[in-house]
Amino acid sequence: MNLLNKKQLKCSINICCNYYIKTFLTSTIYPPDEDTFLFTEILNKNKHLIGNKVLELGSGSGFTGILLSKIGFKVDFSDINQDSIDCLKLNLKENNIDSEIIQSDLFSNIKKKYNTIIFNPPYLPKEELFDYNGKDVNGGKQGVEVILKTLKNANEFLEDNGNLLFIISNLANIKLLEKKMEINNYNFEIIEKKNVGLYSFFNIYNIKYNIYNKNYDKN
Ligand SMILES: C[S@@+](CC[C@H](N)C(=O)[O-])C[C@H]1O[C@@H](n2cnc3c(N)ncnc32)[C@H](O)[C@@H]1O
Repeated sequence: MNLLNKKQLKCSINICCNYYIKTFLTSTIYPPDEDTFLFTEILNKNKHLIGNKVLELGSGSGFTGILLSKIGFKVDFSDINQDSIDCLKLNLKENNIDSEIIQSDLFSNIKKKYNTIIFNPPYLPKEELFDYNGKDVNGGKQGVEVILKTLKNANEFLEDNGNLLFIISNLANIKLLEKKMEINNYNFEIIEKKNVGLYSFFNIYNIKYNIYNKNYDKN
C-alpha cells in the first residue's frame, strides 16, 4: 500500500459506547463525524435489531463497523472509495479486527449474504457545496437516490428475513424517501429521531425484508 507515502495520514482517537477507537484518515475520506457517532451509538443501543453477520456499506474510516466488531458482531466492510479501502486495512489492523474489506459501488462486488446491512449513506442533495470528493457525501439530486438504490437491491444480499439499518439527515428529501418506501411496500420503522439543531435532525430507519415479498420497488 502506497498510502503512507503518498498522502498524509491523520490519526483520530475517540471513545464511543465505552470503547476506545483509533482510526487513521486521509483528507480524501469521510472522517468520523456527528452522524457517524450518532448512528454508532444508536446501533449499540439497539443491538437486538442486528443479526450476527453484518455488512457495512460505505464504511469510510470503518468507525461504526469497528465498534460493532468490538462488541461481538461479524462485520464485513465495503466502500467505493479506494482511499477508504486503504485506510480500512490500516484501521482494522490497528483495532485487531480480522474481517473482509470489499471495494464496491453499493452491491456491485458483494458476493455473500448477511443478516443485517448497515449504511450511513451519502445524503446531501447534489447541489450542496459541502463536499468530500463529490460522491462521498452527495446522495443525488434529492439526497435520497443512493439510499433508494440500496433499498431496491438489498434483499438479494440478505439472508431470510434480514434487515437494513440506515441513518439519514433531513438535509435530504425525507418526505420523498418515505413516500417511495410506502409505495414500494417496505416494512420500515423509524427507530430513532435525533434533533441536532433548531431545524436539523437525523432519522434512523430499520427495514425488515420479507423473502416472500416480490413487490418491492415496482415504482
Ligand atoms: C456519509 S459517509 C459515511 C462514512 C462512514 N460510514 C461514517 O459513518 O463515518 C458515506 C460513505 O459512503 C461511501 N459511498 C458513497 N457512495 C458509495 C457507493 N455508491 N457505494 C459504496 N460506498 C459509497 C463514501 O465513500 C463514504 O465513505
